[in-house]
Amino acid sequence: MDVSSNADYLERNNPLQPGQRPFRLALGFFITFEGGEGAGKSTQIDRLARKMRAKKYDVLLTREPGGSPGAEAVRHVLLSGAAEPFGPKMEAVLFAAARSDHVEQVIRPAVERGSIVLCDRFLDSSRVYQGVTGGIDPAFMATLEQVAINGMMPDMTLIFDIDPAEGLRRATLRRGSHAGADRFEKETLAIHQARRAAFLAIAAAEPERCIVVDASADPDTVEHVVTAAVFAALEARAPTRNRQTAPA
Ligand code: TYD
Repeated sequence: MDVSSNADYLERNNPLQPGQRPFRLALGFFITFEGGEGAGKSTQIDRLARKMRAKKYDVLLTREPGGSPGAEAVRHVLLSGAAEPFGPKMEAVLFAAARSDHVEQVIRPAVERGSIVLCDRFLDSSRVYQGVTGGIDPAFMATLEQVAINGMMPDMTLIFDIDPAEGLRRATLRRGSHAGADRFEKETLAIHQARRAAFLAIAAAEPERCIVVDASADPDTVEHVVTAAVFAALEARAPTRNRQTAPA
């Protein structure tokens, strides 16, 4: 579990680039990365951010739960399991509170100034982890979602799909067997399988927003798929605006 502070996280993932004049879109683009444990999202987001920055796009890399100072305070409460005894509804409200702060303090301002925002987990994680496997009433979840995002729907969502047994094996390798699994990772394989099915159901229901990426492939193949999908979406969205705002 990574509970490092938001300042550390943002600084590590958004290094200052001396002398670089970033390429801002006339209006930003908001991409979210979703999926179960150990699907390799973080590695792929990092690779995509590097590739986009090399092409001089202005990229903001962020994550949930967290991503703003207020949300980061709530992250620790959620991932340590401190809120677990109070039930999934309490956790869902806390995720929504964190998301609202993150949207208003970080995501919306970045999109409005023309950045490409890459966010590691967002509303679909709440739909799946709290809504489906937390057993919360869908109407309650839908209301919370609207309050939390306040219209800030992702332009594009990549759903990293992997067999949960393989994902959990990778997640254990990544954190090292000395460190314990976090509040959500430690749940049963059956719950992780239900989450996989729920993510795929979202992708099937919202094909205009969601793309399923086969995360069992090797990292270079996954990178290729992600890069192709994202650049195609950017081109399809605003090819002329991209050209107009490109640096000389
Ligand atoms: P984290 O260690 O940040 O990352 P990873 O994405 O690599 O798993 O863990 C975040 C955990 O929080 C993860 O188990 C999913 C869970 N989560 C929810 O249950 N609901 C949410 O809305 C979000 C954003 C995350």
